[in-house]
Amino acid sequence: MAKDDNSGKDLTAADSSSVGHEGAPAGTAVVVRDAVANPGFPPHRPRVTDLNPSAERRAERTVYTLFYLSIVGSVFAIVAYMVFPIIPEEPDSVRLNNLFIGLGLTLALLAIGIGAVHWGKALMFDHEGVDERHPVRGSDETRERAVEIFHEANVESGIGRRTLIRNSLIGALIAFPLPAVVLFRGLGPQDTNPAALLEHTMWKKGTRLAIDPTGTPIKASDVTLGSAFHVIPEGLQDLGHGKLEEKAKAAVLLMRLKPEDINEPADKKDWSYDGIVAYSKICTHVGCPVALYEQQTHTLLCPCHQSQFDVTNQCEVIFGPAKRPLPQLPIAVDSEGYLIAQSDFTEPVGPSFWERN
Ligand code: FES
Repeated sequence: MAKDDNSGKDLTAADSSSVGHEGAPAGTAVVVRDAVANPGFPPHRPRVTDLNPSAERRAERTVYTLFYLSIVGSVFAIVAYMVFPIIPEEPDSVRLNNLFIGLGLTLALLAIGIGAVHWGKALMFDHEGVDERHPVRGSDETRERAVEIFHEANVESGIGRRTLIRNSLIGALIAFPLPAVVLFRGLGPQDTNPAALLEHTMWKKGTRLAIDPTGTPIKASDVTLGSAFHVIPEGLQDLGHGKLEEKAKAAVLLMRLKPEDINEPADKKDWSYDGIVAYSKICTHVGCPVALYEQQTHTLLCPCHQSQFDVTNQCEVIFGPAKRPLPQLPIAVDSEGYLIAQSDFTEPVGPSFWERN
């Protein structure tokens, strides 16, 4: 039985009998006896729009003007997208494009928000109510009451009656997503089939394989058994505009296995060189770089969603969401011993989606 260390009193008895009651030992009462009484609602003060019809009309005008302003903001963003296009290699064009599209979208969103808040505070019915908690599924009466409440809300908010506000709000909500349509369209190539862009990379017959990022060409003798290299085409470093786009398509992983460990179909027998194989580094799931090589199991792992590819078997998928093997780059060795590509990839690199032309 628990005892108070100082007084020797039986604490169990004291707690159970005196909690929240007169006479509880100091420090053991857990219920506050003088809790603040529910003060209720403060006296209701009608708003100026409840008392003054001209103030009400003014508030209504303010609300629909804000919604119309939102439409103007959305249209402004679309026009800004066309008038201030992003021009490659011109940072100022990016700045202007972002500035004016941002201003338009800010105006569009802010005006809808302020208009909705003002509508609620100044024009919708101003009465306070208490909602008791109840089971999640209401009784039939409650459900009928809910329908009534919707009806009342319609009447009280005036959305059916105040047609200018309603229509301007609908217009603003329809117009607001439109800038997103043109912005997302702008992310894609403007005049080319995106699938066609992925059908070709920088690799072509005779291009040397070079170390990423230095661009140093790789000799076959540099690639020791079990090693893996991150590879780019020689000359990529010299590209000006579009270097990153080209690298995103042409990146390759180079590995050396024992030649007897590699299972090559007859038509791809000469795509490797003395156990050295090269595969696209772009995951066929959604395009992350397949950056991890497990040399004991000859497995490539994509860290994004854990797709695994078996290097000994044409990089076929052995685990994960990827749907097709990593494309192989046919390689050979030139007269100086450097590794070179025999051709471009023979299939599109990257996500399988792009195969569906
Ligand atoms: S992108 Fe590689 S597994 Fe998803």
